[in-house]
Amino acid sequence: MSQRLSRLGPDRSAAGGAIVTCDSPAHIAYIDHAIDFGGAEHSLIELVSRLDRTSFTATILHTEGAKWLHSDQIADVERIAVFPDHPLLQQKRDEVSTGLLRLIPNVCSTVQLSLKLRAALRRTGAQLVHTNSLKTHFIGGLAARLARLPLIWHVRDLLREDEGYHWLRRAAHLLHPHVIAISKVVAEQFAGLATEVTVIPNGIPLDKFCPGPPSPQLRSELGLSADDYVLLIVSRLTPWKGHMTLLEAVAHLADRWRQLKLVVVGEVAFWEAAYEEQLKQQAAELGLTERVIWTGFRSDVPELLRLCDIFVLPSVEEPFGRVIIEAMATGRPVVATESGGVPEIVVDGQTGLLVPPQDAQSLADAIETLLTNRQYAQQMGAAGLSRAHQLFSVDRVAWQVQELYQKILSKGG
Ligand code: UDP
Ligand code: GLC
Repeated sequence: MSQRLSRLGPDRSAAGGAIVTCDSPAHIAYIDHAIDFGGAEHSLIELVSRLDRTSFTATILHTEGAKWLHSDQIADVERIAVFPDHPLLQQKRDEVSTGLLRLIPNVCSTVQLSLKLRAALRRTGAQLVHTNSLKTHFIGGLAARLARLPLIWHVRDLLREDEGYHWLRRAAHLLHPHVIAISKVVAEQFAGLATEVTVIPNGIPLDKFCPGPPSPQLRSELGLSADDYVLLIVSRLTPWKGHMTLLEAVAHLADRWRQLKLVVVGEVAFWEAAYEEQLKQQAAELGLTERVIWTGFRSDVPELLRLCDIFVLPSVEEPFGRVIIEAMATGRPVVATESGGVPEIVVDGQTGLLVPPQDAQSLADAIETLLTNRQYAQQMGAAGLSRAHQLFSVDRVAWQVQELYQKILSKGG
């Protein structure tokens, strides 16, 4: 290592403050194959834009046509479209079968993409590889090993057995990544392996999400009246996020709460286009057409959060759920599910209410508890705000990740 890496600076809370002093910055290659803008890509952009540039420089290696790269925050970061729009990269997790017919072409494609990636890693002069999405843990992991570079997997997924859980463990065993897990439950997937795992819970830019009065223009744009109670979900429209259960819960409450409205923010991924229609049809069958407002993808989530009375995320199994900490930072009470990493974020009964997944009646009861007791709801929002500021700042994430880079690079990989 040519870098002279010194001790961390004393003020760990300052955004972007120098943490190490180096003669020449170490070059980190970030790899993400996503086309759409999900939580993983938001988190990556926020991390890269907070790197201490005297210590680390970055290249982002991505798929052609990736929509999330347009963010102003990374305008000055080098990026290389290394992946073509390849069928392997668009394959859904539950299509990853162990059958030979699928396995052989998948292994061949992985090797082919890894070789391409290795060449790009060499060209950029990368010194450490940081993969940010499930498929790039495999492809980028192999490329890093071929290029003899230290490897970090930033693991953001919870995999079922039929979704490649065993493949992930096998690959961890073979590729020896250092794993960053976004929650303890994500880290547990590596239990029993020799893999080194650091839990670094997600963070958000807290200054972007703050409590305050909602914009009256936004209310009228969405067709909401001043006395409507607003439930909000912000999430990709995909089955495991639990929109169907939420629609059923709203139907349970509809007769008693005439002013209850549900705002659904988010869009489908292109391979799930039919799902949006299914959701809208279910809303119609439940008699909710007038009560549900579908906004599609929005870039003004902080503003939309200020508009709601209660934030809801009824996921079946959520690895983390950035939107929950965004709602907490906006001072909103959260109703979510006892699933995945959510109980590590929401303190049941203090910052929100947790219910079992796929249980519309319990979800409706929890929402009704908060609709009935406004003061309790407000106290939860205030407790959530304080918890978000204590635990979920993106500056803390940037510090912890850079500390890890420093540790790995100073060990020589
Ligand atoms: N988001 C957004 N606009 C939308 C829907 C979502 O900006 O219309 C953002 C949201 O604010 C959050 C991220 O996308 O920062 C979603 O991250 P999360 O971890 O909640 O879910 P994921 O989709 O990654 O599972
Ligand atoms: C993934 C997970 C989500 C997490 C996000 C950011 O998309 O589904 O729970 O918050 O990554 O790490």
